[in-house]
Amino acid sequence: MSLEEKNLPFDEYIYNDKWRSRTIDIKTYWEYHKKSVENLEEFWASIARELEWFRPWEKVLDASNPPFYKWFVGGELNLSYLAIDRHVKTWRKNKLALIWEGEPVDQTGYPTDRRKFTYYDLWREVNRVAYMLRNNFGIKKGDRITLYLPMIPELPIAMYAAWRIGAITNVVFSGFSADALADRINDSQSRLVITADGFWRRGKVVRLKDIVDKALEKAPSVENVIVYKRLGLNDVPMTEGRDWFWDKAMAGVPHNAYVEPERIESTHPSYMLYTSGTTGKPKGIVHDTGGWAVHVYATMKWVFDLRDDDIYWCTADIGWVTGHSYIVLGPMLMGATQVMYEGAPDFPQPDRWWSIIERYGVTVLYTSPTAIRTFMRFGEEWPRKHDLSTLRIIHSVGEPINPEAWRWAYTNLGYQNVAFGSTWWMTETGGIVISHAPGLYLVPMKAGTNGPPLPGFEADVVDDNGKPVPPGVKGYLVLKRPWPGMLQTIWGDPERYIKTYWSRFPGMFYAGDYAIKDKDGYIWVLGRADEVIKVAGHRLGTYELESALISHPAVAEAAVIGIPDPIKGEVPIAFVVLKQGVAGTDELRKELRQHIRNTVGPIAEPAQIYFVTKLPKTRSGKIMRRLLRAVATGAPLGDVTTLEDETSVEEAKRAYEELK
Ligand code: WTA
Repeated sequence: MSLEEKNLPFDEYIYNDKWRSRTIDIKTYWEYHKKSVENLEEFWASIARELEWFRPWEKVLDASNPPFYKWFVGGELNLSYLAIDRHVKTWRKNKLALIWEGEPVDQTGYPTDRRKFTYYDLWREVNRVAYMLRNNFGIKKGDRITLYLPMIPELPIAMYAAWRIGAITNVVFSGFSADALADRINDSQSRLVITADGFWRRGKVVRLKDIVDKALEKAPSVENVIVYKRLGLNDVPMTEGRDWFWDKAMAGVPHNAYVEPERIESTHPSYMLYTSGTTGKPKGIVHDTGGWAVHVYATMKWVFDLRDDDIYWCTADIGWVTGHSYIVLGPMLMGATQVMYEGAPDFPQPDRWWSIIERYGVTVLYTSPTAIRTFMRFGEEWPRKHDLSTLRIIHSVGEPINPEAWRWAYTNLGYQNVAFGSTWWMTETGGIVISHAPGLYLVPMKAGTNGPPLPGFEADVVDDNGKPVPPGVKGYLVLKRPWPGMLQTIWGDPERYIKTYWSRFPGMFYAGDYAIKDKDGYIWVLGRADEVIKVAGHRLGTYELESALISHPAVAEAAVIGIPDPIKGEVPIAFVVLKQGVAGTDELRKELRQHIRNTVGPIAEPAQIYFVTKLPKTRSGKIMRRLLRAVATGAPLGDVTTLEDETSVEEAKRAYEELK
């Protein structure tokens, strides 16, 4: 757990001049909230009506087969139409939709690669790409396509093109390895992969297509690969008949191509995104079309309060869920202008982000606690070099924000005059669930809280028996009613969907997080209650890292845990049992770390590897990661009655102390 449970400022209300007039007291908020959940269907319908449907829904919520809830049943819509065509028909036609900044800079530190798109530019491009996918590659409704792309405009463009024709996108984070990519392609049975030759990261070239080639050795479902030349590398190996550079792929596509947006049923999947859970391989979380659109639209208004003169910037990568909902879909549903940045936050200097905010006059910022803690370490002289006074709203996401980091950002980025919250949600929820809502009714801020659940969401904290805990007591976070953006299922594994989320507490969605409610009903999420680790906000499963380690010829057994880290929130460490006769050298440690980088991705590299001869296990053979965590954090061991061999813990302790 990364947040210090004691000393949380439960009772400290924070107000400022800019937001005081929008702030209401918490009692008034709860009255409003109560009405929203009591009339759940009418509440969500009133928001859904603000979007444009090709065909209205017949039923807001079909709860006849729980937990397979269906939203806006009978309705038809198209995300590409809603996000683009709708604005092109208005004065927003030539409003800037996207300002993209590549990483490279000139000698003076000024960006050299910039592209800007109006809504009309995007409309034309999306139509051309949709035409290409349909006519040149035969992609049709329901087909899965895998997008393995860096943060360049072609990623959202390709997603809109796919959604225009009803294809289901499967975006894979460009930091994942060939093995991880192959798993995700295979499980989704994708016919097509769209990628790039490479991209810039901290001044270095990352060669993406090479990774795709490696993945495709193990992924036979892929018929074609489209390669966008981000860097213009001239030594990209291309497989004849399978691989096409973007311009070749576009052969025969008219400049003014138009593809009628398909009428997509509200319950038809729009995207799948793989995420880590407690056990087993990453699971493909499937989201619908209509419910997701309504959820994202509502939260965009409430949480980000976007107006036409805002410049919005979400610093997440589209490879994670935050980028899906709050870069690709959300701001465009609102007709907003947004900034997208390709590279590292500290390139060429630690003030890159602040220069971006200043350059475009960013008003609404969505970022992560890890980023904020990294900048804290660089020092406040870096934000001070820039005028950040345009900012009026900041939110963070991905992991708990510690009160110190919150205060630092509130002061040094927000000049103590912004609305600033920590939005809780997860890949499975499809959009924000617990958050401050300056666009609706702002309740007083507190440093580090997630705030109350948004209207239309019933979240609670319960004990082991599913009973609500009193204020101040730690319990499990649950959602007690279905919500529009909720996952539909796990791709190809409905049983696992039921088991993972709906079996722990019958009738409630189990989020897998520990949380505390305070006396005002604000929720403070503390961290994961399972074997998921959040490394710099990125969600990883211990299982993936363990199976990666075991795939190395020197390793017999491995246990991975997450331990607190002052910057990244959590980092993985591994306890490894080597095969007979293999020596546990520093050299091997290095090799295993590299092995994880290659098989999962660089973000998963363990901070340390400890060699032991046995792992603490129960008598039935289950690894007791809890005890390893206690060893590494110095916490009490707790109940050890099920432990098979106590010397295993002693040994882990010695191994840990040795490398301290
Ligand atoms: C954690 C990211 C505390 C939580 C959108 C959750 C948070 C997991 C917050 C989901 C927050 C996300 N405060 N914890 N504001 N936001 N989390 O699927 O543990 O990558 O269960 O979705 O991130 O991670 P995921």
